[in-house]
Amino acid sequence: MTFEEMWADLLPLGRDAAGGYHRFAWTPPELECRAWFAGEARRRGLDVEHDANGNMIAWWLPEDGVRENAVLTGSHLDSVPGGGAFDGPLGVVSAFAAIDLLRERGARLRRPIGVAAFAEEEGARFGVACLGSRLLTGAIDPARARALTDADGRTFADVLHHAGLDPEAIGPDDDLLNRVGCFVELHVEQGRALAEPVGVAASIVPHGRWRFGFAGEGNHAGTTALADRRDPMLPFASMVLAAREAAERNGTVATVGKVRVDPGGVNAIAASVTGWLDARGPDDASVRRTVADVDAAVRAAARPHGVTVDLAEESYTEVVGFDLALRDRLARVVKGALGGAPVLPTGAGHDAGILSARMPTAMLFVRNPTGVSHAPAERAEIADCLAGVEALAAVLDDLAAG
Ligand code: GLV
Ligand code: MN
Ligand code: MN
Ligand code: MN
Repeated sequence: MTFEEMWADLLPLGRDAAGGYHRFAWTPPELECRAWFAGEARRRGLDVEHDANGNMIAWWLPEDGVRENAVLTGSHLDSVPGGGAFDGPLGVVSAFAAIDLLRERGARLRRPIGVAAFAEEEGARFGVACLGSRLLTGAIDPARARALTDADGRTFADVLHHAGLDPEAIGPDDDLLNRVGCFVELHVEQGRALAEPVGVAASIVPHGRWRFGFAGEGNHAGTTALADRRDPMLPFASMVLAAREAAERNGTVATVGKVRVDPGGVNAIAASVTGWLDARGPDDASVRRTVADVDAAVRAAARPHGVTVDLAEESYTEVVGFDLALRDRLARVVKGALGGAPVLPTGAGHDAGILSARMPTAMLFVRNPTGVSHAPAERAEIADCLAGVEALAAVLDDLAAG
């Protein structure tokens, strides 16, 4: 299976008519992606380890059977609603293709190589980004994770149970982590910052998600006088504008990309509204100030309308500076393989950011000519993808083979 053949097999899974992907953790399209992963692993004679947290790792072991000090690569297979084809899968497909290249070239392993597909990286179903890697590394309390619900009110525990996993067994897995020496994630670049085919990540900016709940009173849209309304949509509207203003003031970016209006009738004043804020910025303080500014603005807007506001932090990731020695090593190896290796920061979150708390971690980015991500226009040219495979193979060769 070449890169192009693997890509073609994955491409139809979970794609809508507009070309957007809907691969949410443990829904049918994502299960098809998992089956695809298992098939590609089997085809290469790689054993698939299913950890207790829903993550999968396909292992290529050295002939002497050594299982320690592994080099882990891979990414994720789930998507945001209407997401692009590359965010996640590119790292997984490239990892299998890089293994094929190493084998063709007769590489012999000194360290195991694992290809990971982390669960619920986007947090599109249960709200917490990188849920699988957070559980694995102990970055989220398992009890909190079990109680997370999806849009239909199903708990994470229930979904795990139906997937054949034991919800009581989730949580940090030192046995697995202690077998891994480092993690290198290849990912499509998600902005316009990369002018060459492949770059190396410097850092991930601090970022997080916050949920604002606005509680008012449902009532009739025609018979309720304006003075008698407790309409939660009004302070929600100010949230959207406040996010933009707070971002401009604090030098951050802030987005309200998801809202739930209950009960959602055209001819009814809403009883409650939930709005999600995504905020990211150059440092912790600016992100915290952005959220505090939005919070103050919506509370001020809610008061005159008799609406109450509550705020919950769904996830937060502090600045991630990737391991300097590993990053420099990647840059050197990629430069040797491709002739150039620009180093760039990113505003996107990744499992690599979570794993970096536990092991040396680095990332490779593949150029995105549209600069668009989390949307169908996300792209990477095939020549750049193949350069990414070449770069990843060189890195894996340097770290694990020879
Ligand atoms: C995930 O891709 C994120 O950056 O939100
Ligand atoms: Mn993403
Ligand atoms: Mn991703
Ligand atoms: Mn991501």
